[in-house]
Amino acid sequence: MMRQSSLVVVANRLPLDDNVAPDGACEWRRSPGGLASALHAILEGTTATWVGWGGGIGAAPPLPDIGTLRLRPVALSEDELRGYYEGFANTTLWPLYHDAVEQPVFDRGWWETYRTVNRRFAEAAAEVAEPGAAVWVQDYHLQLVPQMIRELRPDVLIGFFMHVPFPPPELFMQLPRRLELLGGMLGADLVGFQREQAAHNVAQLAGKMLGARGADDAIIYDGRVVRTGAFPVSIDVTEMEALSARPYVLNQARQLKHDLGQHKKVLLSVDRLDYTKGIEHRLTAYSELLRDGRIKVRDTVMVQVAVPSRERVESYRGLKDRIEREVGRINGEYGRVGEPAIHYLNQPFDRADLAALYRTADVMVVTPLRDGMNLVAKEYVAARADDTGALVLSEFAGAAAELQDAFQVNPHDLDGLKKTLLDALDATPADLRRRMQAMRAHITENDIHAWARAYLSALDHTGQLARRLPRQRAVLADRA
Ligand code: ADP
Ligand code: F6P
Repeated sequence: MMRQSSLVVVANRLPLDDNVAPDGACEWRRSPGGLASALHAILEGTTATWVGWGGGIGAAPPLPDIGTLRLRPVALSEDELRGYYEGFANTTLWPLYHDAVEQPVFDRGWWETYRTVNRRFAEAAAEVAEPGAAVWVQDYHLQLVPQMIRELRPDVLIGFFMHVPFPPPELFMQLPRRLELLGGMLGADLVGFQREQAAHNVAQLAGKMLGARGADDAIIYDGRVVRTGAFPVSIDVTEMEALSARPYVLNQARQLKHDLGQHKKVLLSVDRLDYTKGIEHRLTAYSELLRDGRIKVRDTVMVQVAVPSRERVESYRGLKDRIEREVGRINGEYGRVGEPAIHYLNQPFDRADLAALYRTADVMVVTPLRDGMNLVAKEYVAARADDTGALVLSEFAGAAAELQDAFQVNPHDLDGLKKTLLDALDATPADLRRRMQAMRAHITENDIHAWARAYLSALDHTGQLARRLPRQRAVLADRA
């Protein structure tokens, strides 16, 4: 008999891949990405079930629980991986939802696979949800799942949260299967977004395309009220603060500073290697500052961490090639022996080493062309408990609505970007302290636990669901 849970989370990815240790032990493997970071913090220690793809191809082995959290793997074949994940999710929806900064591709075969795979996720969720459970579906990969679950299990409460931006109506209207995608999402009882504008866009679309009535906080569709709203996702601030104060991290940060050049100002960027992150624009700005003599490699250095992502998708391969060529060019032109202008790291990092990088950076440069939230920006703020460091933040990241004391910038405006980088490099300690304190106060108040509580208490008015979550994780023990 399949075990059932009162809270079921459905996300494309499980928080670990399919290579569970031979002894069956199973550890959190935090895959890079905002969704895994956010859900990891709130689900660890609960008795929820997480339904998702384990990262491999073909039959999914049963996975052991992670502590009390249960995992229900969903299998994908090679063709499904290409059509559903690499195709429709990441070559159609992803670029379209990010302002079409890369041309979206519409392919009829991918759509069929997307629908088949969404149905499989819905069936898995329906199987593990106890009567009257809450089922919380995540992100653009699974946009048809809410309506499918409603058909399979009318007794459950259904939530949907979109981690990425939801585009303006004129862009969404380009989708050949727009009606199904909109209706699928509105199968939920509560549809959450990162920003209010997204809820407004959906209300407009629902009126125009489905003849639904409604406003930015509720849509009447199919004889039901679908509530909508903004719930900006966040990070586990306590965890990042504790992590960045560990002796190991402080030692690593000292070592990094030494290796990069004791007296140098360090600019840092940490992204998945994705065209939405604005990496090329940033490299151009940095290179022009070197060319203009406004910064010199003897006193400034840049570290660009670009973790591999969606490597079989053509646009990602092309981007990687272009970035690597440009880094090579900049280092060739401006670097000196033993003194590169840019350190480029195309590799995953564990959390402690990321925290050490955050501790080392004088200026954190987060300049996506469009981003649902960008948790890296919030992680940097949480890691700077000593109120030092500058955050340069794109106006087009969801985080910009909250982190108003960052050095905000339009990344398309190269001169503006160059000037903002210089402003951040030259800012006084007093100015930086004021900005950092204001930003940290905001994220401390609005951390990941507050996000989950706000969402789940909106989904379930009784407040029972929210009470089952841990208020915050136990502070990590020091492991020097
Ligand atoms: P996205 O969801 O688009 O990847 P976010 O900035 O919201 O963007 O989230 C990225 C998450 O992935 C953060 O929690 C960050 O710490 C993590 N991450 C980013 N780069 C790496 C890396 N090189 N190694 C490990 N984790 C990373
Ligand atoms: O945060 C947006 C998002 O697409 C998440 O859904 C996803 O986990 C993350 O980016 C990383 O992408 P992927 O799962 O394709 O590696």
